[in-house]
Amino acid sequence: MNPKPTADYPVRKPKFQFSDSVPKHWCGGNASLTHVLNAWTILFPEGEKYFIRTVQKYVPRLKEGQVKRNAIAFVGQEAQHAGEHRKFWRNLKEQGYKFEGFMNFVVWFAFDLLERIFSERMNMAAVAGLEHYTSLVADLGLRSGLLKPAHPEMRRLFEWHAAEELEHKSAAFDVLKEVTESYWIRVTGMCIASGIFFTFTLVAVLIFLWQDGILFRFKTQKELFRLLFTKEKVLPLTIAAAFRYFRFSFHPDQEDNLHLAEEIFSQQEHQYREAI
Ligand SMILES: [Fe+2]
Ligand SMILES: [Fe+2]
Repeated sequence: MNPKPTADYPVRKPKFQFSDSVPKHWCGGNASLTHVLNAWTILFPEGEKYFIRTVQKYVPRLKEGQVKRNAIAFVGQEAQHAGEHRKFWRNLKEQGYKFEGFMNFVVWFAFDLLERIFSERMNMAAVAGLEHYTSLVADLGLRSGLLKPAHPEMRRLFEWHAAEELEHKSAAFDVLKEVTESYWIRVTGMCIASGIFFTFTLVAVLIFLWQDGILFRFKTQKELFRLLFTKEKVLPLTIAAAFRYFRFSFHPDQEDNLHLAEEIFSQQEHQYREAI
């Protein structure tokens, strides 16, 4: 008898506990980099719930096969990410940050307004585009060693999440391909994703830096400039990767980065309890 076919990846269940010893600028004392990562920590839980809602609408309609199995595993992985990132909200609040108003706006604008306005297919295209960005920043984070000076718990959280983003980078794209072959829907979804991703990340970073009272400090501007343009070159690399997505023949599997994920899994393997 053939073994039951499985998804290309499991749903791991690491459990994080963020102690009060995690400092405010937990990524090597670099406030700007820390707040980019904090921005995603507040945006991911609602964003990933949106990914899950969108993909789950299509799961019953997908053909039996690898795309469907991977879509189900994708939902499982994103649910874990959302839950673990949300745990750090307690630390952020205890550190004095206020972001409920911003998150209420994000939820209203992105999920009460845009999600309802767009068709199911356009929402799926936006999710595929956003997943391109999460795998892109995951690649950047793991390849550049940006997370090495981070507090160990936060480093482990982001490395696990980044590795799984690389692992399931094709899941939403493959669902979209099965739903529609339209290049224009894919590209329009990517434009929506770009607007949402860059705007919400930037505003959240500015809010955190403002609340620290260091938004206009020279050191902060220098950190941001190095991160975006000269050292890690996040902005040109991100824009280049966004344009790769516009190639007619693009597929996420063309991005050579799975080895980065495998390195993390082999380091962290003993900490996972697999759900499926
Ligand atoms: Fe995720
Ligand atoms: Fe993802």
